[in-house]
Amino acid sequence: MNYAKLKFKRNDARSLYGQLVEALESAIEREDLTAGTRLPSERALAAQLKLSRTTVVNAYRELEARGLLRSHVGRGTFVCARPEPADAPFAWRGKVSAFAQLNADPALRNLHLDTMNSRLISFAAGIPAIECFPLADYRRLIEQVLRESSDAVLGLGPTEGQAPLRKAIAARAGTRPERVLILSGSQQGLDLIARCLIDAGDTVVLDRPGYVGAIQTFRAAGAKLVGWDTVRGDLDELEDLFLRYRPKLLYTNPTFQNPTGKVFSLRERRDLLRLAVRYRIPVVEDDPYRETYLDAAPPPPTLYELDEHNIVIHHSTFSKVLAPGLRLGWLAASEYVVDQLALIKQRENLFTEGLSQLVVAEFMRSGLFDEHLAKLRREHARRRDRMSASLAEHLPAKFLTHARPKGGLYFWCRLGHGLKGRQLLQQATAAGVVFANGEIFYADEAGAHELRLCFASQTPDRIEEGIKRLAASLKSGHERDAPREESLMPMV
Ligand SMILES: Cc1ncc(COP(=O)(O)O)c(C=O)c1O
Repeated sequence: MNYAKLKFKRNDARSLYGQLVEALESAIEREDLTAGTRLPSERALAAQLKLSRTTVVNAYRELEARGLLRSHVGRGTFVCARPEPADAPFAWRGKVSAFAQLNADPALRNLHLDTMNSRLISFAAGIPAIECFPLADYRRLIEQVLRESSDAVLGLGPTEGQAPLRKAIAARAGTRPERVLILSGSQQGLDLIARCLIDAGDTVVLDRPGYVGAIQTFRAAGAKLVGWDTVRGDLDELEDLFLRYRPKLLYTNPTFQNPTGKVFSLRERRDLLRLAVRYRIPVVEDDPYRETYLDAAPPPPTLYELDEHNIVIHHSTFSKVLAPGLRLGWLAASEYVVDQLALIKQRENLFTEGLSQLVVAEFMRSGLFDEHLAKLRREHARRRDRMSASLAEHLPAKFLTHARPKGGLYFWCRLGHGLKGRQLLQQATAAGVVFANGEIFYADEAGAHELRLCFASQTPDRIEEGIKRLAASLKSGHERDAPREESLMPMV
């Protein structure tokens, strides 16, 4: 929101503080300020609006008392629950816990909502080519599993997961079934890990930029988040962070990283593990994109495979290679860790639904999964190439720069001319196309000039149409807003 647009009348009957309360309240009502937004510091807003700091402090306090803002020491003041209509029969807003209010960041949910909106061409959420989903085989296997294992499907299931799926995953990941925990989507795994290993105030070092779901989850666990620039991948810098912050955990996505597409070399993997072992810092290796390589041979071995000290928790999902709607993920770790995480999972959802576990297990055992992956890679390469060609045709480098991904699902892009992703997103949404705004991948509010485009989820024709719409929004935004002096931002 542009605070500079707020206007105040100095000789109005209403106090300046009252006017500021009203202005912020109506911005929250109009959703110009959405839940989870951080407001400027009191000092910064006072300076910007030429008000006294006391006026801003009092306005923030008033809005806090009304349940619209929440201050958090060291982090700032945030918009919390969405306003309720004044005539709501019961004021639920005042009942929402401080924890829930502080962690009301809707970024992921909004990404998914936009993607489900058929009016929009969405490059926002990370979804594979669903048209490749092996529907006929899946249907047949559902029949087979229901016929042969209805007790396992309909009865109680083991919290750790169905044995055939643990076995199939273990064989693929080069581990033992007892070291595999099945998850209801890998997002659940991040939550379990955070609950199991993080106490409020602990530090987590994580990719910068990095996966928004990890940022949200570790933040909600009360962790202090420290970013490590994974694109540079400087291990001396990582060592500095280990020494300075003594983190409880390193979270990284070393293969076709979300959002940048970076792949760590074998040497970088070995060096990273050596550091983690030297400083005794557990590593969460989030690895959902390993099977999505497009051009070259498969990526280097996982950190988990290279680990000789039981220090890595490997974490993955079928969402990026089959379908996110299955809500099926898994992790591999030492048996001790699996047991601890299973005890927490039991409290969360008892166990993961059995039918899809058994169908996917049979899918893997029979070799159909590998056939599917080969087909998916071909289709993803076609879509990646189409997006690359469309970007080259419609968006010259002065508007948008990007690197061509070799796997994963995304183009990570930087806007030229100082244009901001957030503004562009508003114009693009009106033109019927959406993307993921760069800011959501940073824990520290950087990323204003970056954005992520998922190339895998749309058919080539829709990719072309979507990029055309994006280019039109970008160019019209540029004509209207860009500063006179054109400065080309360097590529990341
Ligand atoms: C790095 C990373 N981890 C985890 C997830 C969550 O996947 P799931 O659908 O299994 O919860 C995603 C989804 O985008 C991701 O990119």
